[in-house]
Amino acid sequence: MTAVRAPEPAPGPEAGPLSVPPFAVVSGAQVRQALKGREKEVVELVEATYQLHGAGDSVNPPSYFLRFPDRPTARIIALPASIGGEYRVDGLKWISSFPENVAAGVPRASAVLILNDHATGYPFACLEASVISATRTAASAALAADRLSRGRPRPARVGFVGTGLIARYIHTFLAGTGWSFDAIGIRDLSPDSAAGFRGYLERTGTGGAITVHDSAEELIRASDLVVFATVASRPYVSDRSCFEHNPLVLHVSLRDLAPEVLLDATNIVDDVDHCLKADTSPHLVEQLTGSRDFLDGTLDDVMTGRVAVPHDRPVIFPPFGLGVLDLAVGHFVYRQVARSGELQVVDEFFSELRRHG
Ligand SMILES: NC(=O)c1ccc[n+]([C@@H]2O[C@H](COP(=O)([O-])OP(=O)(O)OC[C@H]3O[C@@H](n4cnc5c(N)ncnc54)[C@H](O)[C@@H]3O)[C@@H](O)[C@H]2O)c1
Repeated sequence: MTAVRAPEPAPGPEAGPLSVPPFAVVSGAQVRQALKGREKEVVELVEATYQLHGAGDSVNPPSYFLRFPDRPTARIIALPASIGGEYRVDGLKWISSFPENVAAGVPRASAVLILNDHATGYPFACLEASVISATRTAASAALAADRLSRGRPRPARVGFVGTGLIARYIHTFLAGTGWSFDAIGIRDLSPDSAAGFRGYLERTGTGGAITVHDSAEELIRASDLVVFATVASRPYVSDRSCFEHNPLVLHVSLRDLAPEVLLDATNIVDDVDHCLKADTSPHLVEQLTGSRDFLDGTLDDVMTGRVAVPHDRPVIFPPFGLGVLDLAVGHFVYRQVARSGELQVVDEFFSELRRHG
C-alpha cells in the first residue's frame, strides 16, 4: 500500500471525464484520529444529513438482517445508502453484532463501510466502521437530546441503562456538545459493565454524582434524560408510573420499552418506515394497535418546526440508525485523511481496466 495525498473523488459526472478512482483502506486508528475532538462538527454534519434525507435528497432502502439458526443472538446487517448534497456518495455499511463476544473481552460490534464513487460506481474506500457507526449514533443522540428538550428545562439528571461502548460514545458526545449533569445514573445487568462505565466517567472528571441503580425503573424515576443502550431483544420496562415526570428518553437500543409506555408518550422517530421494523418497540405498538397514529413525527419534522414537542408527556426517540448517517460521517473521515496525506491507497486494486485486453 502507498500513503498518498489522493484526490477527492469527483463530485459528479459534470466535473470532467470519467476515471477510475484510487482505492484506499482507512484503519480504525485513522478514523479515531480524524474524529477526535470534533463532536460539534459531527453533530452539525448529522443534522445536515437528516435534513437532506428529510428533503428527499437521499436513497436509504431497508437494512438487510443476516441471521443464523446456529447463532441466534448474532446478526450482520447491511445498510446500503446514497446521499446528495455537497458530497454526493453511495455506499454500504456491513456491521456485525455478536453479543457473546463481550464475555471474552471482544467488542460486540465490528464493521466496514464501503464508499462508492457517485460518477462511476467504483468503490474508492473501505473504512473501519465500528467507530463511524458508534460516532453517528452518538451524534444523532446528542442532536436529539438538544432538539427534543428545547422549550423545557434542560435535563440535569441523566441515566444510562446499558453501559457498553455506545453509552460511552453518547456520554462523550453529550459532554462534547456542552451538556453537563448534576447526577448520572447507571444501570446494567453486568456489574463489570457498570463498574467499567463508572471508571470511564470518573476518568473524564465528570462533575455529577454517580449512582448505580438496582433497576431500570429506579434509574428512570431519578433521571430527566434516559439513554437505553442495552442489547435486550424484547421489552422489559412496562411500568408507566416511572415516566410520570415526563423524561426525555433516547431509546437507542429500540426494544426495551413495552407498548403501553410508548402509548403514553410523544413518539419521535428518525424515519417512520425504518423504525417500524424488526420488532422494535414502535413496531410492536403498530402490531398491537394496527395503526401508526401513535407516532408524532420525525426528528427532521421537529427541527424544521413542522411538529412541536409537548412537554406534558414523556418524549421517546428510538433512532433506528440510517445508512445515510454512516455515509456522511464516513466521507467526512475520508476527506480528513485524504487532506492529511495519510490515505493508504492499494496499488492496482482495480487492474482489469481495458475492455478488450
Ligand atoms: N439505533 C442505532 O442506530 C444503534 C447504533 C449502534 C448501536 N445500537 C444499539 O446499541 C446497543 C448497545 O450497543 P453496545 O455496542 O454499547 O453494546 P455492548 O454489548 O457494549 O453493551 C450493552 C450493555 O447492555 C447491558 N444489558 C443488556 N441487557 C440489559 C438490560 N436488560 N438491562 C440493563 N443492561 C443490559 C449489557 O450487560 C452490556 O453491558 C445495542 O443494542 C446496539 O444494537 C443502536
